[in-house]
Amino acid sequence: MRSLLLLLLLTAVSISTLMAAEADDEAALLAFKVAAINGGHGDPLASWNRSSALGFCSWEGVRCEGSHRRVVELSLPCYGLIGNLFSAIGNLTFLRTLNLISNWLQSSIPESIGCLASLQKLNLSYNTFSGPLPANLSSCVSLLYMDISSNRLHGRIPVELGHKLTSLQTLSLRNNSLTGAIPASLSNMSSLYYLNLGTNQIEGAIPPELGRIGGLRGLDLSGNKLSGVLPHSLYNLSMLTGFLVYRNLLSGTIPADIGNRLPNIEFINFSSNLSALSTLALNDNNLSGYVPSTLGRLQGLIGLYLSNNKLETKDSLVPVGKPLLSQFPNRNRQSGTKGPHL
Ligand SMILES: *[C@@H]1O[C@H](CO)[C@@H](O)[C@H](O)[C@H]1NC(C)=O
Ligand SMILES: *[C@@H]1O[C@H](CO)[C@@H](O)[C@H](O)[C@H]1NC(C)=O
Ligand SMILES: *[C@@H]1O[C@H](CO)[C@@H](O)[C@H](O)[C@H]1NC(C)=O
Ligand SMILES: *[C@@H]1O[C@H](CO)[C@@H](O)[C@H](O)[C@H]1NC(C)=O
Ligand SMILES: *[C@@H]1O[C@H](CO)[C@@H](O)[C@H](O)[C@H]1NC(C)=O
Ligand SMILES: *[C@@H]1O[C@H](CO)[C@@H](O)[C@H](O)[C@H]1NC(C)=O
Ligand SMILES: *[C@@H]1O[C@H](CO)[C@@H](O)[C@H](O)[C@H]1NC(C)=O
Ligand SMILES: *[C@@H]1O[C@H](CO)[C@@H](O)[C@H](O)[C@H]1NC(C)=O
Ligand SMILES: *[C@@H]1O[C@H](CO)[C@@H](O)[C@H](O)[C@H]1NC(C)=O
Ligand SMILES: *[C@@H]1O[C@H](CO)[C@@H](O)[C@H](O)[C@H]1NC(C)=O
Repeated sequence: MRSLLLLLLLTAVSISTLMAAEADDEAALLAFKVAAINGGHGDPLASWNRSSALGFCSWEGVRCEGSHRRVVELSLPCYGLIGNLFSAIGNLTFLRTLNLISNWLQSSIPESIGCLASLQKLNLSYNTFSGPLPANLSSCVSLLYMDISSNRLHGRIPVELGHKLTSLQTLSLRNNSLTGAIPASLSNMSSLYYLNLGTNQIEGAIPPELGRIGGLRGLDLSGNKLSGVLPHSLYNLSMLTGFLVYRNLLSGTIPADIGNRLPNIEFINFSSNLSALSTLALNDNNLSGYVPSTLGRLQGLIGLYLSNNKLETKDSLVPVGKPLLSQFPNRNRQSGTKGPHL
């Protein structure tokens, strides 16, 4: 009898916890809505109201799962949201997908986003988010895809991201105003296959540790203020298909640290290790020395961009195989040309 009472009591307690969680998700969504449509015309989220018969799980862009009716997806691309991303987003603790691309959201990204430990896909690209990239994102340890490209983020890339986001496969912070150096800790993101930090104001040397991300297929560091030489370790990235470092302040030779003595021999190694490479963009830097003739052995290469450096060619540079969309060394600055992309 006593145990039955206890059971009833426990059931009652867990039901009330469940209802509280459900209520919390609704409250968090409503708080999100108020902040996100603030300042806009009309109400792009008119369906988000308490009178809708099926409750918040039926609201546009909201997907719930499980008997607990917790929100697992919030997907509102191109909704004309013009306000802020409110910190209550961190209360949707079952969220796995957050997709708010192509809106006009403009606050900083709230630190509470770190409460979303189940979040797998985060796409906030094409908004006007400002402020720093919160270090708390490193608590979103389930993240597989993170795309915050084309915003107005400032400040450094937090080193913490590399320490904890080891499941991350895609990271794009392209087209922001990030500064500081590339944290070497990013090399701990051992599942990464696409890294795009292009079009920022990132400076310093490319950390050699990036060469440890063995599965990397796309690396875009173009359009920054990176200096120093291309680390030799990058030539170890045998899966790499796109390698874009154009428009930086890189110097040295190709490959960087070998000097002019053995460029061809080194490029044999280079080409055998980079056999997957299809796009190589080194244009608009300060590279010098000879373009190694063995570049032509990169059989998969279809785009080669080398212009606006101080490179010299030998007669023998005749890349074989596929036709090249090549821009061979010339000193005529082609201003306004669009760079290659992955
Ligand atoms: C979010 O959760 C916090 C703490 O759990 C609570 O104080 C706050 O009221 C919640 N906010 C909303 C909008 O539900
Ligand atoms: C509330 O949402 C429902 C659809 O979920 C919609 O039909 C109704 O017009 C909305 N009510 C208001 C006041 O916006
Ligand atoms: C952000 O992270 C810091 C340090 O991990 C933590 O103290 C703080 O509570 C977090 N903020 C929020 C809003 O989760
Ligand atoms: C994020 O959304 C943009 C715009 O639709 C898309 O191009 C990009 O591939 C998405 N990022 C990820 C990681 O899925
Ligand atoms: C860069 O981001 C801004 C938003 O901050 C956007 O308007 C612009 O179209 C983006 N540029 C590219 C090339 O994606
Ligand atoms: C992350 O990478 C840094 C620099 O490469 C290294 O010193 C550190 O031990 C790594 N940390 C973890 C947790 O793997
Ligand atoms: C390339 O990888 C091999 C094997 O993993 C390693 O021994 C070597 O040190 C790496 N080379 C560079 C330059 O990092
Ligand atoms: C090519 O790869 C081999 C084995 O993975 C490694 O030992 C060698 O150092 C690499 N060559 C270059 C130029 O990085
Ligand atoms: C290139 O690789 C070969 C073996 O594949 C090695 O003997 C040679 O030393 C390497 N060249 C350089 C410059 O590392
Ligand atoms: C370009 O490289 C030369 C040496 O080759 C160096 O003297 C010069 O300072 C470099 N310029 C920049 C902008 O890094």
